[in-house]
Amino acid sequence: MAVLPILRYPDERLHRLARPVVVVDESVRALVRDMAETMYAAPGIGLAAVQVGDPRQVVVIDISEARDELRTFINPVIVEAAGTCEFEEGCLSVPGIYETVRRAARVKTQSLDERGRPFELVAEGLLAVCIQHEIDHLHGRVFVEHLSRLKQSRILAKLKKQQRLTM
Ligand code: NI
Repeated sequence: MAVLPILRYPDERLHRLARPVVVVDESVRALVRDMAETMYAAPGIGLAAVQVGDPRQVVVIDISEARDELRTFINPVIVEAAGTCEFEEGCLSVPGIYETVRRAARVKTQSLDERGRPFELVAEGLLAVCIQHEIDHLHGRVFVEHLSRLKQSRILAKLKKQQRLTM
């Protein structure tokens, strides 16, 4: 197990398309374990493999208070979406930035679990938001890209200033 470095927006690697996992083998399970450890250490409630520089379609999520309900989504797709909701989101790749994003209120997903078994999940509320946020990462999309261009340029300026201060 290892805590992996998390790529920071606007790193170009966050904009790559993740590729599907062909076989859920031990290397995928090792990635899932490292991603979980990285997410818990951050701490965060969700992490996509692209955020740690891995091009595979793997997501981990844990929205529980006790941090003991790890969910793994391999090759996740949204097959149904309904309603709209607005949540203030953040992202481990965009530290210190929190912005309201509009998304579907309920989603149905199909994925594989860490043993390669297909499962469906119907989610709403924070879990639905988190799933959509992480699946966006697999499509090379960071949550700030849902915002207006003006907001995006303000965020980029703020992040550049932060990076100067921490160097
Ligand atoms: Ni994120």
